[in-house]
Amino acid sequence: MKWKDVDYTPYTSTIALAPEEESLRQEDFIQKAAAVVREMSEKAGRVPTACVVTFGCQMNARDSEKLCGILSRAGYMLTEDEEADLVIYNTCTVRDNANQRVYGRLGHLNAMKKQNPSKKIALCGCMVQEVQVIDKIKKSYSFVDLIFGTHNIYKFPELLYMMLTSDKMIIDVWKDTSSIVEDLPVERKYPFKSGVNIMFGCDKFCTYCIVPYVRGRERSRDPKEILRECEKLAADGVSEVMLLGQNVDSYGKGLEGGVNFPGLLREVEKIDGIRRIRFMTSHPRDLSDELIELMAGSEKICRHLHLPVQSGSSRILKAMNRGYTRESYLELIGRLKAAMPDLAITTDIIVGFPGETMEDIDETISLVKEVGYDNAFTFIYSPRTGTPAADMPRSMSDEEIKEGFDKLLKVVQDTAKLSVAKYAGRVEEALVEGLNDHDPEMVTGRLSNNLLVHFKGGADLAGSYVKVKLLENKGFYYIGEML
Ligand code: SAH
Ligand code: SF4
Ligand code: F3S
Repeated sequence: MKWKDVDYTPYTSTIALAPEEESLRQEDFIQKAAAVVREMSEKAGRVPTACVVTFGCQMNARDSEKLCGILSRAGYMLTEDEEADLVIYNTCTVRDNANQRVYGRLGHLNAMKKQNPSKKIALCGCMVQEVQVIDKIKKSYSFVDLIFGTHNIYKFPELLYMMLTSDKMIIDVWKDTSSIVEDLPVERKYPFKSGVNIMFGCDKFCTYCIVPYVRGRERSRDPKEILRECEKLAADGVSEVMLLGQNVDSYGKGLEGGVNFPGLLREVEKIDGIRRIRFMTSHPRDLSDELIELMAGSEKICRHLHLPVQSGSSRILKAMNRGYTRESYLELIGRLKAAMPDLAITTDIIVGFPGETMEDIDETISLVKEVGYDNAFTFIYSPRTGTPAADMPRSMSDEEIKEGFDKLLKVVQDTAKLSVAKYAGRVEEALVEGLNDHDPEMVTGRLSNNLLVHFKGGADLAGSYVKVKLLENKGFYYIGEML
């Protein structure tokens, strides 16, 4: 049976069925897709392979685990090799270089498809939520078989089935949704740790950021569903959960029952089997004293906070619409450190925002020194179409921005090295994540404060908690010894 080319309807925002009915409908499509995959297996004499490549943040990584879960159920063998029969790029558009990487790699996929014409290529994620991207793909990358957006990922079984039974490019991208469909199958990357979405979208509208446009309005998941998922994960051997949202501190807004983020954390803490709780990302504007107090007294909430500052200049923070000043951010850091002297703090920083001067960058540098971050991710500002900052005039040349960026980066590295040095000689608990990528005699473990430590050990340690002595500071990680 052949399907007709699907109309390109980028701006539908409703779904016809209630989420529960929709789950069942999609389950049906998994079975239908599985029948097609079985046929393909028989014909080829081997199981078809699928490869999901993730660009961007933890949110995308979690979405990819859902895609992998569905592909596995449909009978595909998952691989990391892009020679696979089906390749899906789960894209990011937060900065232009993320987009450029996808376009570059699509060219390679096209070459492979010429060798293997039955190869299928799909694109999803944040990048394809932009209309101009879809236009470009239709025009210049017409070998792509399927494009779907961030709001209808739960429809992937249906779209997969349509793609497998059609020769045309299928496009299904929605502008927004108010719906959350639960219970998608998931194939986790690690058996012992998992991300858990607690909210979707973002309402903050920082003037440089495209996320609210491509991920839609902020929607919190029902706490009962989150707890049910965490309990199921714990029963399945997961001991570390990472609660995911663009702005976890505003969790609960719009939900009945008055639940907030600390309230949710308290419930997750009660789950037996969950030993570590992490969350990402916190916004300095919404981080409450209630959360600080809870973290300080918690055995399970990890000693790490990622608290993006973006800039150390109050003038630039105002232009970014961040909703705090340099002073109020530093004051918040003061409260955090007073409550948890051993807390590791990391951040994100943007350099080259429109109107920024070298004096503003110097203010950021002095803030980095004052906070003493354990690590900081630094980015050169990238104008995003449709965001307010894209129309603001800039005051520095590319060379000056690069000079400011390099100056900042050096301070970030020096500061991090100093901050991380204070852990030398300590004995800490590490969750072993697996064999070291470069040395098969070593394993890599993660401490509560998110620091990585490499030490002698075998693959059988993966997923276990061990005591490690931190011996040698390598900057952003340690070489240690298991006790
Ligand atoms: N929700 C999180 C971060 C989301 S995006 C928060 O509010 O902090 C991750 C990081 O990408 C941001 O913290 C920011 O530093 C960076 N970023 C976002 N938009 C950018 C842009 N247009 N150019 C450069 N960096 C950007
Ligand atoms: Fe983007 Fe700001 Fe929302 Fe973070 S809080 S996702 S930076 S708009
Ligand atoms: Fe990128 Fe989308 Fe995350 S734009 S950073 S993948 S929410």
